[in-house]
Amino acid sequence: MELNIGIPEQSRIAISEGLSRFLADTYALYLKTQNFHWNVRGPEFYSLHLLFEKQYEELAEAVDEIAERIRALGFYVDASFSGFKDKTSIREETKVLTSKDMLLELIEAHETLIRGVRKVAEIGDNDGDFATVDMIGRRLGAHEKMAWFLRSHV
Ligand SMILES: [Fe+2]
Repeated sequence: MELNIGIPEQSRIAISEGLSRFLADTYALYLKTQNFHWNVRGPEFYSLHLLFEKQYEELAEAVDEIAERIRALGFYVDASFSGFKDKTSIREETKVLTSKDMLLELIEAHETLIRGVRKVAEIGDNDGDFATVDMIGRRLGAHEKMAWFLRSHV
């Protein structure tokens, strides 16, 4: 069925493409945070293990909300590892890092994601997609807070 929600198709396409990149970044950051939850070691093991757990759980919920926003805009969600890998700007981590490098790596990933999705909010704002702008605003607040918690451990 055609959508008639007052957002032109071209805008919905541009926004959903931006949201697909945001979804891939969020998924990549979710995996990276869970990786560090599993592999962290050192004197701060327990607090970082718990901090990373809290953060990856939050990211898992966000993944669902972003994907469902793409569906509400009228498009299918590419939910494959290969699709995520193509679209994400977050570097994959295959080595086991020190706890300090894990924190630095996560801070950089949050900041990369934040800068990327800000542009999608600007498109949404110009084209009247206030639901997407609202969601991105909440996600930006959550990422900026997570980055602050991580920074406070360095
Ligand atoms: Fe666990």
